[in-house]
Amino acid sequence: MGELKKILLKKKNCKSVWFMRQAGRYLPEFKKIRSKNKDFIKLCLNSKLSSEITLQPIRRFNLDSAIIFSDILMVPYGLGQDIKFIEDKGPVIRNFNLKNFLNFKKKDFNKKLRPVYSAIKTTKKRLEKEKSLICFVGAPWTLLIYLFGLKINTNNIDLKKIKGREKEIKKIFNKLNQFLCLHIKNQVRAGADVVQIFDSWAGLIPKNKVKDFCFKPNKKIVDFCKSKNIPIICFPKGIKKKYLQFNNYVRPHGISLDYQIKPEWAYKNLKNVVIQGGLDPKILLKSDKEIFKRATRYLKAFKGIPYVFNLGHGLLPKTDPGKVHKLIKFYRNF
Ligand code: CP3
Repeated sequence: MGELKKILLKKKNCKSVWFMRQAGRYLPEFKKIRSKNKDFIKLCLNSKLSSEITLQPIRRFNLDSAIIFSDILMVPYGLGQDIKFIEDKGPVIRNFNLKNFLNFKKKDFNKKLRPVYSAIKTTKKRLEKEKSLICFVGAPWTLLIYLFGLKINTNNIDLKKIKGREKEIKKIFNKLNQFLCLHIKNQVRAGADVVQIFDSWAGLIPKNKVKDFCFKPNKKIVDFCKSKNIPIICFPKGIKKKYLQFNNYVRPHGISLDYQIKPEWAYKNLKNVVIQGGLDPKILLKSDKEIFKRATRYLKAFKGIPYVFNLGHGLLPKTDPGKVHKLIKFYRNF
Protein backbone atom coordinates (compact mmCIF):
# COMPACT_ATOMS: atom_id res chain seq x y z
CA MET A 1 0.00 0.00 0.00
CA GLY A 2 2.79 2.38 0.95
CA GLU A 3 4.52 1.50 -2.29
CA LEU A 4 1.51 2.18 -4.47
CA LYS A 5 0.96 5.43 -2.66
CA LYS A 6 4.54 6.49 -3.20
CA ILE A 7 4.59 5.66 -6.85
CA LEU A 8 1.16 6.50 -8.12
CA LEU A 9 0.42 9.27 -5.68
CA LYS A 10 3.78 10.89 -5.42
CA LYS A 11 2.27 14.27 -6.25
CA LYS A 12 2.41 16.47 -3.16
CA ASN A 13 -1.34 16.91 -2.93
CA CYS A 14 -2.09 13.19 -3.45
CA LYS A 15 -3.49 13.81 -6.93
CA SER A 16 -2.99 11.39 -9.76
CA VAL A 17 -4.86 10.67 -12.98
CA TRP A 18 -4.64 8.13 -15.79
CA PHE A 19 -7.31 6.35 -17.82
CA MET A 20 -7.80 2.71 -18.74
CA ARG A 21 -7.38 2.35 -22.50
CA GLN A 22 -5.89 5.84 -22.69
CA ALA A 23 -3.77 4.69 -25.63
CA GLY A 24 -6.19 3.57 -28.25
CA ARG A 25 -8.82 3.86 -30.87
CA TYR A 26 -10.35 7.21 -29.84
CA LEU A 27 -7.05 8.98 -30.63
CA PRO A 28 -6.49 10.11 -34.24
CA GLU A 29 -2.73 9.68 -33.83
CA PHE A 30 -3.30 6.01 -32.84
CA LYS A 31 -5.71 5.42 -35.73
CA LYS A 32 -3.12 6.74 -38.12
CA ILE A 33 -0.53 4.18 -36.97
CA ARG A 34 -3.14 1.43 -36.77
CA SER A 35 -4.35 1.98 -40.35
CA LYS A 36 -0.83 1.22 -41.57
CA ASN A 37 -0.42 -1.78 -39.23
CA LYS A 38 -3.28 -4.18 -39.89
CA ASP A 39 -1.91 -7.04 -37.76
CA PHE A 40 -2.60 -6.09 -34.14
CA ILE A 41 -0.26 -8.69 -32.57
CA LYS A 42 2.56 -7.53 -34.84
CA LEU A 43 1.86 -3.97 -33.75
CA CYS A 44 2.09 -4.99 -30.08
CA LEU A 45 5.42 -6.66 -30.92
CA ASN A 46 6.80 -3.57 -32.64
CA SER A 47 8.73 -2.05 -29.73
CA LYS A 48 9.26 1.29 -31.41
CA LEU A 49 5.63 1.80 -32.34
CA SER A 50 4.20 0.42 -29.12
CA SER A 51 6.40 2.78 -27.11
CA GLU A 52 5.27 5.63 -29.34
CA ILE A 53 1.57 4.71 -28.88
CA THR A 54 2.08 4.47 -25.10
CA LEU A 55 3.37 8.03 -25.04
CA GLN A 56 0.70 9.54 -27.32
CA PRO A 57 -1.85 10.23 -24.56
CA ILE A 58 0.90 11.47 -22.22
CA ARG A 59 1.96 14.10 -24.73
CA ARG A 60 -1.58 15.10 -25.50
CA PHE A 61 -2.96 15.24 -21.93
CA ASN A 62 0.06 15.22 -19.59
CA LEU A 63 -1.40 12.29 -17.60
CA ASP A 64 0.46 11.15 -14.45
CA SER A 65 0.91 7.53 -15.57
CA ALA A 66 1.51 5.78 -18.84
CA ILE A 67 0.15 2.26 -19.44
CA ILE A 68 2.21 0.20 -21.81
CA PHE A 69 0.55 -0.43 -25.16
CA SER A 70 0.08 -4.19 -25.34
CA ASP A 71 -2.81 -6.57 -24.72
CA ILE A 72 -3.90 -9.10 -22.12
CA LEU A 73 -3.87 -11.71 -24.90
CA MET A 74 -0.12 -11.38 -25.37
CA VAL A 75 0.30 -13.99 -22.59
CA PRO A 76 -1.74 -16.67 -24.44
CA TYR A 77 0.19 -15.60 -27.56
CA GLY A 78 3.46 -16.08 -25.64
CA LEU A 79 2.18 -19.54 -24.70
CA GLY A 80 1.99 -20.50 -28.34
CA GLN A 81 -1.67 -19.82 -29.10
CA ASP A 82 -2.92 -18.59 -32.46
CA ILE A 83 -4.70 -15.28 -31.84
CA LYS A 84 -6.43 -13.11 -34.40
CA PHE A 85 -7.98 -9.71 -33.79
CA ILE A 86 -11.02 -9.43 -35.99
CA GLU A 87 -12.41 -6.00 -36.75
CA ASP A 88 -15.67 -5.22 -34.88
CA LYS A 89 -15.52 -8.64 -33.23
CA GLY A 90 -12.40 -8.60 -31.09
CA PRO A 91 -9.89 -11.32 -30.33
CA VAL A 92 -10.43 -14.92 -31.37
CA ILE A 93 -8.25 -17.90 -30.43
CA ARG A 94 -8.32 -20.66 -32.99
CA ASN A 95 -7.71 -24.34 -32.19
CA PHE A 96 -6.83 -23.99 -28.53
CA ASN A 97 -4.33 -26.78 -27.95
CA LEU A 98 -4.22 -27.82 -24.29
CA LYS A 99 -1.18 -30.07 -24.54
CA ASN A 100 0.93 -27.46 -26.31
CA PHE A 101 -0.27 -24.86 -23.87
CA LEU A 102 0.60 -26.85 -20.74
CA ASN A 103 3.99 -27.92 -22.09
CA PHE A 104 5.11 -24.50 -23.26
CA LYS A 105 8.53 -23.55 -21.86
CA LYS A 106 9.56 -20.36 -20.10
CA LYS A 107 12.51 -19.83 -22.40
CA ASP A 108 10.29 -19.80 -25.48
CA PHE A 109 7.71 -17.57 -23.78
CA ASN A 110 10.38 -15.02 -22.85
CA LYS A 111 11.69 -15.05 -26.39
CA LYS A 112 8.27 -14.51 -27.97
CA LEU A 113 7.47 -11.59 -25.68
CA ARG A 114 10.91 -9.95 -25.69
CA PRO A 115 9.70 -7.01 -27.84
CA VAL A 116 7.13 -6.12 -25.15
CA TYR A 117 9.92 -5.86 -22.61
CA SER A 118 12.09 -3.75 -24.88
CA ALA A 119 9.12 -1.42 -25.46
CA ILE A 120 8.85 -0.97 -21.68
CA LYS A 121 12.57 -0.29 -21.41
CA THR A 122 12.47 2.36 -24.14
CA THR A 123 9.30 3.94 -22.77
CA LYS A 124 10.64 4.18 -19.24
CA LYS A 125 13.67 6.05 -20.57
CA ARG A 126 11.49 8.45 -22.53
CA LEU A 127 8.97 9.07 -19.73
CA GLU A 128 9.44 12.00 -17.36
CA LYS A 129 10.88 10.85 -14.03
CA GLU A 130 7.87 11.81 -11.94
CA LYS A 131 5.45 9.79 -14.07
CA SER A 132 4.85 6.09 -13.47
CA LEU A 133 4.75 3.35 -16.07
CA ILE A 134 1.98 0.82 -15.56
CA CYS A 135 2.13 -2.70 -16.97
CA PHE A 136 -0.69 -5.22 -16.83
CA VAL A 137 -1.88 -8.79 -17.15
CA GLY A 138 -5.31 -10.32 -17.64
CA ALA A 139 -6.57 -12.49 -14.77
CA PRO A 140 -6.84 -16.24 -15.49
CA TRP A 141 -10.65 -16.24 -15.72
CA THR A 142 -10.74 -13.31 -18.15
CA LEU A 143 -8.15 -15.09 -20.30
CA LEU A 144 -10.14 -18.34 -20.13
CA ILE A 145 -13.09 -16.47 -21.67
CA TYR A 146 -10.96 -16.07 -24.82
CA LEU A 147 -9.14 -19.43 -24.64
CA PHE A 148 -12.47 -21.29 -24.58
CA GLY A 149 -14.48 -18.76 -26.62
CA LEU A 150 -16.96 -18.55 -23.74
CA LYS A 151 -18.71 -15.28 -24.44
CA ILE A 152 -22.11 -15.31 -26.17
CA ASN A 153 -22.56 -11.55 -25.71
CA THR A 154 -21.47 -8.87 -23.21
CA ASN A 155 -23.67 -10.27 -20.45
CA ASN A 156 -23.64 -14.03 -21.04
CA ILE A 157 -21.29 -16.94 -21.34
CA ASP A 158 -21.91 -20.42 -22.70
CA LEU A 159 -21.95 -22.42 -19.46
CA LYS A 160 -21.96 -25.71 -21.37
CA LYS A 161 -18.40 -24.98 -22.42
CA ILE A 162 -17.05 -25.10 -18.85
CA LYS A 163 -19.30 -27.75 -17.36
CA GLY A 164 -17.41 -30.86 -16.23
CA ARG A 165 -14.07 -29.34 -17.20
CA GLU A 166 -12.96 -28.39 -13.66
CA LYS A 167 -9.77 -30.47 -13.80
CA GLU A 168 -8.72 -29.01 -17.13
CA ILE A 169 -9.51 -25.47 -15.95
CA LYS A 170 -7.43 -26.00 -12.83
CA LYS A 171 -4.44 -27.03 -14.92
CA ILE A 172 -4.91 -24.03 -17.22
CA PHE A 173 -5.19 -21.63 -14.28
CA ASN A 174 -2.02 -23.01 -12.71
CA LYS A 175 -0.10 -22.63 -15.94
CA LEU A 176 -1.49 -19.13 -16.47
CA ASN A 177 -0.70 -18.07 -12.91
CA GLN A 178 2.88 -19.19 -13.34
CA PHE A 179 3.34 -17.37 -16.65
CA LEU A 180 1.39 -14.26 -15.63
CA CYS A 181 3.81 -13.90 -12.72
CA LEU A 182 6.73 -14.43 -15.08
CA HIS A 183 5.30 -11.76 -17.42
CA ILE A 184 4.95 -9.37 -14.47
CA LYS A 185 8.50 -10.08 -13.34
CA ASN A 186 9.84 -9.46 -16.84
CA GLN A 187 7.86 -6.25 -17.26
CA VAL A 188 9.00 -4.86 -13.90
CA ARG A 189 12.58 -5.82 -14.63
CA ALA A 190 12.28 -3.86 -17.88
CA GLY A 191 11.16 -0.75 -16.01
CA ALA A 192 7.44 -0.90 -15.17
CA ASP A 193 6.58 0.66 -11.79
CA VAL A 194 3.10 -0.73 -11.11
CA VAL A 195 1.00 -3.70 -12.28
CA GLN A 196 -2.73 -3.84 -12.88
CA ILE A 197 -4.62 -7.14 -13.15
CA PHE A 198 -7.61 -6.85 -15.48
CA ASP A 199 -10.34 -9.29 -14.49
CA SER A 200 -12.69 -7.60 -16.94
CA TRP A 201 -15.13 -10.51 -17.13
CA ALA A 202 -15.21 -11.44 -13.41
CA GLY A 203 -18.89 -10.42 -13.44
CA LEU A 204 -19.69 -13.39 -15.72
CA ILE A 205 -18.41 -16.07 -13.32
CA PRO A 206 -21.16 -18.42 -12.08
CA LYS A 207 -22.10 -17.43 -8.49
CA ASN A 208 -20.74 -20.54 -6.77
CA LYS A 209 -17.38 -20.23 -8.56
CA VAL A 210 -16.41 -16.62 -7.77
CA LYS A 211 -13.98 -17.64 -5.06
CA ASP A 212 -12.27 -20.32 -7.17
CA PHE A 213 -12.24 -18.45 -10.47
CA CYS A 214 -11.70 -14.86 -9.30
CA PHE A 215 -10.57 -14.39 -5.68
CA LYS A 216 -8.04 -17.23 -5.51
CA PRO A 217 -6.23 -16.66 -8.83
CA ASN A 218 -6.08 -12.88 -8.19
CA LYS A 219 -4.68 -13.52 -4.71
CA LYS A 220 -1.94 -15.77 -6.06
CA ILE A 221 -0.73 -12.99 -8.34
CA VAL A 222 -1.05 -10.35 -5.61
CA ASP A 223 0.93 -12.52 -3.17
CA PHE A 224 3.63 -12.97 -5.79
CA CYS A 225 3.82 -9.20 -6.31
CA LYS A 226 3.95 -8.55 -2.59
CA SER A 227 6.83 -11.02 -2.22
CA LYS A 228 8.71 -9.00 -4.85
CA ASN A 229 7.64 -5.57 -3.55
CA ILE A 230 5.74 -4.79 -6.73
CA PRO A 231 2.78 -2.38 -6.30
CA ILE A 232 -0.37 -4.03 -7.62
CA ILE A 233 -3.87 -2.86 -8.52
CA CYS A 234 -6.79 -5.28 -9.05
CA PHE A 235 -9.80 -4.68 -11.28
CA PRO A 236 -12.44 -7.36 -10.63
CA LYS A 237 -15.01 -5.79 -12.93
CA GLY A 238 -18.68 -6.58 -12.44
CA ILE A 239 -18.64 -8.45 -9.11
CA LYS A 240 -20.83 -5.79 -7.42
CA LYS A 241 -20.92 -5.93 -3.60
CA LYS A 242 -18.40 -8.80 -3.68
CA TYR A 243 -15.81 -6.03 -4.12
CA LEU A 244 -15.83 -5.98 -0.31
CA GLN A 245 -15.03 -9.70 0.10
CA PHE A 246 -12.58 -9.48 -2.77
CA ASN A 247 -10.66 -6.67 -1.11
CA ASN A 248 -10.55 -8.42 2.26
CA TYR A 249 -9.47 -11.74 0.77
CA VAL A 250 -7.05 -10.62 -1.94
CA ARG A 251 -5.64 -7.54 -0.16
CA PRO A 252 -4.14 -5.73 -3.15
CA HIS A 253 -2.36 -2.38 -2.77
CA GLY A 254 -4.86 -0.72 -5.09
CA ILE A 255 -8.40 -1.54 -6.23
CA SER A 256 -9.99 -0.15 -9.37
CA LEU A 257 -13.74 0.41 -9.20
CA ASP A 258 -16.03 -0.39 -12.10
CA TYR A 259 -18.87 1.99 -12.97
CA GLN A 260 -21.51 -0.09 -11.14
CA ILE A 261 -19.88 0.52 -7.75
CA LYS A 262 -21.22 3.56 -5.92
CA PRO A 263 -18.30 5.72 -4.75
CA GLU A 264 -19.94 6.37 -1.37
CA TRP A 265 -20.28 2.61 -0.82
CA ALA A 266 -16.64 2.06 -1.79
CA TYR A 267 -15.49 4.79 0.59
CA LYS A 268 -17.34 3.13 3.45
CA ASN A 269 -16.47 -0.48 2.69
CA LEU A 270 -13.09 -0.77 0.99
CA LYS A 271 -10.40 -0.31 3.62
CA ASN A 272 -6.60 -0.57 3.67
CA VAL A 273 -6.39 -0.11 -0.07
CA VAL A 274 -5.83 2.77 -2.49
CA ILE A 275 -9.03 3.31 -4.46
CA GLN A 276 -8.92 4.07 -8.16
CA GLY A 277 -11.41 4.87 -10.89
CA GLY A 278 -15.15 4.30 -11.09
CA LEU A 279 -16.36 7.03 -13.43
CA ASP A 280 -18.52 5.58 -16.22
CA PRO A 281 -16.68 6.01 -19.55
CA LYS A 282 -20.08 6.54 -21.23
CA ILE A 283 -20.39 9.86 -19.37
CA LEU A 284 -17.70 11.23 -21.70
CA LEU A 285 -20.19 10.96 -24.55
CA LYS A 286 -22.43 13.52 -22.79
CA SER A 287 -22.35 17.28 -22.18
CA ASP A 288 -19.56 18.99 -20.24
CA LYS A 289 -22.02 19.78 -17.50
CA GLU A 290 -22.99 16.15 -17.04
CA ILE A 291 -19.34 15.05 -17.15
CA PHE A 292 -18.25 17.52 -14.47
CA LYS A 293 -21.25 16.72 -12.28
CA ARG A 294 -20.48 13.01 -12.28
CA ALA A 295 -16.73 13.58 -11.77
CA THR A 296 -17.54 15.83 -8.80
CA ARG A 297 -19.45 12.98 -7.17
CA TYR A 298 -16.34 10.78 -7.23
CA LEU A 299 -13.95 13.51 -6.14
CA LYS A 300 -16.20 14.48 -3.24
CA ALA A 301 -16.75 10.88 -2.14
CA PHE A 302 -13.00 10.25 -1.89
CA LYS A 303 -12.02 13.61 -0.49
CA GLY A 304 -9.26 13.29 2.10
CA ILE A 305 -8.10 9.80 1.14
CA PRO A 306 -5.60 8.80 -1.55
CA TYR A 307 -7.61 8.35 -4.74
CA VAL A 308 -6.36 7.70 -8.25
CA PHE A 309 -8.71 9.40 -10.69
CA ASN A 310 -9.64 7.02 -13.52
CA LEU A 311 -12.66 5.48 -15.24
CA GLY A 312 -14.80 2.46 -14.36
CA HIS A 313 -13.70 0.74 -17.60
CA GLY A 314 -11.72 1.68 -20.70
CA LEU A 315 -12.25 4.82 -22.78
CA LEU A 316 -14.74 4.10 -25.56
CA PRO A 317 -13.70 4.35 -29.22
CA LYS A 318 -16.40 7.01 -29.81
CA THR A 319 -14.93 9.35 -27.16
CA ASP A 320 -13.97 12.85 -28.27
CA PRO A 321 -10.38 13.48 -27.11
CA GLY A 322 -11.44 17.10 -26.47
CA LYS A 323 -13.79 15.86 -23.72
CA VAL A 324 -10.97 13.86 -22.14
CA HIS A 325 -8.87 17.00 -22.10
CA LYS A 326 -11.65 19.00 -20.43
CA LEU A 327 -12.18 16.29 -17.80
CA ILE A 328 -8.49 16.27 -16.89
CA LYS A 329 -8.46 20.06 -16.65
CA PHE A 330 -11.53 19.97 -14.44
CA TYR A 331 -9.88 17.36 -12.21
CA ARG A 332 -6.63 19.32 -11.91
CA ASN A 333 -8.55 22.44 -10.86
CA PHE A 334 -10.88 20.66 -8.45
O1 CP3 B 1 -4.22 2.15 -23.18
C1 CP3 B 1 -4.24 1.07 -22.59
O2 CP3 B 1 -5.04 0.83 -21.68
C2 CP3 B 1 -3.16 0.05 -22.92
C3 CP3 B 1 -3.48 -0.91 -23.90
C4 CP3 B 1 -4.50 -2.02 -23.71
C5 CP3 B 1 -5.08 -2.67 -24.83
N1 CP3 B 1 -5.80 -3.73 -24.38
C6 CP3 B 1 -4.87 -2.28 -26.24
C7 CP3 B 1 -5.88 -2.66 -27.24
C8 CP3 B 1 -4.96 -2.67 -22.56
C9 CP3 B 1 -4.69 -2.36 -21.11
C10 CP3 B 1 -5.77 -3.75 -23.00
C11 CP3 B 1 -6.39 -4.72 -22.08
C12 CP3 B 1 -7.43 -5.63 -22.59
N2 CP3 B 1 -7.47 -6.28 -23.78
C13 CP3 B 1 -8.54 -6.03 -21.80
C14 CP3 B 1 -8.83 -5.61 -20.39
C15 CP3 B 1 -9.38 -4.25 -20.32
C16 CP3 B 1 -10.81 -4.12 -20.78
O3 CP3 B 1 -11.04 -3.32 -21.68
O4 CP3 B 1 -11.66 -4.78 -20.19
C17 CP3 B 1 -9.28 -6.93 -22.60
C18 CP3 B 1 -10.58 -7.61 -22.20
C19 CP3 B 1 -8.59 -7.08 -23.84
C20 CP3 B 1 -8.96 -7.94 -24.98
C21 CP3 B 1 -9.18 -7.15 -26.21
N3 CP3 B 1 -8.21 -6.53 -26.93
C22 CP3 B 1 -10.43 -6.88 -26.84
C23 CP3 B 1 -11.78 -7.38 -26.36
C24 CP3 B 1 -10.16 -6.11 -27.99
C25 CP3 B 1 -11.10 -5.66 -29.08
C26 CP3 B 1 -12.07 -4.64 -28.64
C27 CP3 B 1 -11.48 -3.46 -27.91
O5 CP3 B 1 -11.77 -3.34 -26.72
O6 CP3 B 1 -10.75 -2.65 -28.50
C28 CP3 B 1 -8.77 -5.86 -28.00
C29 CP3 B 1 -8.04 -5.06 -28.99
C30 CP3 B 1 -7.29 -3.89 -28.47
N4 CP3 B 1 -6.46 -3.89 -27.39
C31 CP3 B 1 -7.26 -2.60 -29.07
C32 CP3 B 1 -6.37 -1.83 -28.30
C33 CP3 B 1 -5.95 -0.41 -28.54
C34 CP3 B 1 -8.00 -2.18 -30.32
C35 CP3 B 1 -7.26 -2.62 -31.50
C36 CP3 B 1 -7.83 -2.02 -32.75
O7 CP3 B 1 -8.73 -2.64 -33.31
O8 CP3 B 1 -7.34 -0.98 -33.14
